[in-house]
Amino acid sequence: MRMFLLISLLSLVCGASALIIFAGGLPEAPAGFDGATNGATSQGDMDAARDVFTEIETPQVGLGPVYNDVSCVACHQNQAVGGASQTLEFRAGHYDGGRQSWRRDVRHRFDTNGSSGTYVAATAVLANGMLIPNRSLINQRATCAAAQEHLTNADNIRAGRLSLPIFGDGFVEAVPDATLLALAKQNGGEAIQVPVVEMNGVTAIGRFGWKDQHASLLSFAGDAYVNEMGVTNSLFQDESVTGVCAPQTQLNDTQGDINQFATFMRSLKVPPRNLPTDATALSDVAAGQAVFEKIGCATCHTETMVTAPTGTSILGGSLIVPAAIGGKQFHPFSDFLLHDIGTGDGIVQNGPDDTANKLRTMPLWGLSTRTQLMHDAGSATFTEAIERHKREATAAERKFDRLADTERILLFAFLGSL
Ligand code: HEC
Ligand code: HEC
Repeated sequence: MRMFLLISLLSLVCGASALIIFAGGLPEAPAGFDGATNGATSQGDMDAARDVFTEIETPQVGLGPVYNDVSCVACHQNQAVGGASQTLEFRAGHYDGGRQSWRRDVRHRFDTNGSSGTYVAATAVLANGMLIPNRSLINQRATCAAAQEHLTNADNIRAGRLSLPIFGDGFVEAVPDATLLALAKQNGGEAIQVPVVEMNGVTAIGRFGWKDQHASLLSFAGDAYVNEMGVTNSLFQDESVTGVCAPQTQLNDTQGDINQFATFMRSLKVPPRNLPTDATALSDVAAGQAVFEKIGCATCHTETMVTAPTGTSILGGSLIVPAAIGGKQFHPFSDFLLHDIGTGDGIVQNGPDDTANKLRTMPLWGLSTRTQLMHDAGSATFTEAIERHKREATAAERKFDRLADTERILLFAFLGSL
């Protein structure tokens, strides 16, 4: 019986993926929060890389002068190393010129700005008076008093960004750009070209971060090391704040830690489903998935993705897709594209200006491990999160509003199973 229901669940999966991605017959990416490698690296290499990911940095080895936390794991662990956390990062900026039209989303922690004019990233003011211009990420910690960052009234756009899980990201990295471009054509989402930092002059379609700011896990690792922890590395050699708190002049990451971070992340399995065990509940999940598809949620929350074949050269030749990653199907429930669903925070990162109020479709895999929802942590329940879906998601949200209670319960059973 269980087997039969699982098969019908799978056929639903395939039904939706018929949108454009043909996954039929391809093996599934391995799932689990068990700390075991997905096969891309040996267990020994993954464990060694995890040790670096969980290492606590000190000012003596490069932490700061400004930072947000002391190790990758501090913001990336839930149920297993590689999860998310409740950390809410702080971004800011303002608009120059043009008309400021303020948009207030009822459940938003911060005002949002749907303004015309040009976005300008914030200028942080250090306690010692130094100005740090053109930086939307405001670091909330410092290794000495002089470097504590503050904002001025001028930077009136304030945004929170919740930490993201990393499970399965090695598979996401190996999705061909062409897949994301085709999806964008189909559902109106925006795919942006972002630099592959480790390959001078090479770009690829962004898929990581709330703003799709990176395409490569190695690029993200270098960026996070310098921006979250203040640890300079071969990809990001400049700190945002220099000359204070016993400044270090040499490059901080001399051991190639960023490669270890990438190795660890590329070894992680995808998040496992949280499927109920009894048959009735399992059939409710399948029925709820049908509701999810019927009301248009799957347009953006794309169920199935397929990685490039084993041996494909990606990211400008810097990565060859290994057999453990290549030719697999997996189920992120995201198109990894940017959309304006009315929750935008006005901040521009690696994309063009029109991305100011867009966010990446949050992948719904692992949803059952999340307590606060949406980029700003502004929603706590499925209903709250869904009711904030407007603009590009208006049609789906209206259909949700009109669901019968029984259908809503099924939809929530499905969401809870992710
Ligand atoms: C202070 C908390 C914090 C620390 C420390 C931190 N991160 Fe993150 N991480 C975040 C937040 C918040 C996001 C979402 C950021 C965004 O997109 O604006 C994120 C996103 C990511 C993502 C994108 C995941 C995805 O699927 O889109 C990767 C990869 C990542 N971090 C890797 C790292 C690595 C590697 C380190 C250590 C060098 C690290 N992070 C340190 C908070 C942190
Ligand atoms: C037009 C694209 C689009 C459609 C259609 C859409 N979503 Fe979303 N969804 C998004 C984006 C973008 C986000 C992230 C928004 C943010 O964080 O501000 C999101 C976030 C979410 C979240 C929060 C997840 C988390 O972990 O924070 C849930 C739950 C969700 N969507 C469910 C749904 C459901 C259910 C439907 C159908 C009623 C739906 N979505 C339709 C684009 C869409």
